[in-house]
Amino acid sequence: MRSLIDIVEFSVEELDELLKVACDIIDNPQKYSEKCKGKKLATLFFEPSTRTRLSFEAAMLELGGSVIGFSDAANSSASKGESMADTAKVISCYADIIATRHPLEGAPLVAAVNASIPVINAGDGGHCHPTQTLADLLTIYREKGRLCDLTVGFCGDLKYGRTVHSLISALSRYTGIKIVLISPDELKLPDYIREDVMEKNGMEYIETRYLEEVMPQLDILYMTRVQRERFDDLDTYERLKDSYILTLDKLDTAKKDMAILHPLPRVNEISVKIDDDPRACYFKQVRNGKIMRMALILKLLSETDKHWDPFEDTVKNKYICSNSKCITTVEQELEHIFKKNDDGIYRCIYCDSQANKEEI
Ligand code: NCD
Repeated sequence: MRSLIDIVEFSVEELDELLKVACDIIDNPQKYSEKCKGKKLATLFFEPSTRTRLSFEAAMLELGGSVIGFSDAANSSASKGESMADTAKVISCYADIIATRHPLEGAPLVAAVNASIPVINAGDGGHCHPTQTLADLLTIYREKGRLCDLTVGFCGDLKYGRTVHSLISALSRYTGIKIVLISPDELKLPDYIREDVMEKNGMEYIETRYLEEVMPQLDILYMTRVQRERFDDLDTYERLKDSYILTLDKLDTAKKDMAILHPLPRVNEISVKIDDDPRACYFKQVRNGKIMRMALILKLLSETDKHWDPFEDTVKNKYICSNSKCITTVEQELEHIFKKNDDGIYRCIYCDSQANKEEI
């Protein structure tokens, strides 16, 4: 059974095929209006969402299917202590495909290995958000006409910004991409993206704290919100929250055709005065998100007989995951499963944290 938990599960050919289907949906929407007739999507959202949940629902409705689900953990049996695994088994009896968002890293993977229907990760803690990446890729493709030979700046919360992690992973599949990482020291990109994605794939990258310094180089500027809900210490959040505020005057040195992306919600990072600038693409990104989710639902529903085993080449119960935001730390009956990377480092398959040297 094929699911989508991390964007790296899709090859570049599969990403390109999704983009092709998305462009066809844009040109011929009526061709797709009954493709999912009789099928049900379940949206299981344990964390707040506007765009992701509603775009999944709109996507399924536009494909002629229907939707069930909940938008708040308090309205589900999770509030009574039901595990993610049991929830996934239960929902498999009602629906044909699941989209789920959860504050714990790895929760959608637990759902996927326990469900008998495809599961889509709609965001797991500060870890990944592959369907926002699909929206981002379609936006970049439509704005620039290509996904290679681009200088892409990521600005803001690169530590907890899950959309950043997934988009960098996807861009690592394309050639000629230069990544510019712009953040305060406290919000730098996690090691596993730097080492296992960028360095492993030989991606060119630089890091800086100063957006103004790199602005003239950028083809894409990907702004992000500082993720208040992921901070253990709110004083640190208060200190960092306004690290970058994009205003019209700062765009003076930017390329005339630079595309400004933001996964939204925006808090204070982009002045509303920029919304009318032709470089502002964040509302186009929202529309593209629905289209790519339509393409994704079609793909996964047509591949239910495909083999997918996230536990291949892993070791069980040899190491323990010490990330307090990993689902294995909270749901204690789950086995701790690690995979060795090319540098011999073991990473938790749920949250990508590095294993403790200590064996169990
Ligand atoms: C993002 C998310 O949930 O990670 N929002 C979204 O899905 N479009 C970004 C964010 O919340 O800052």
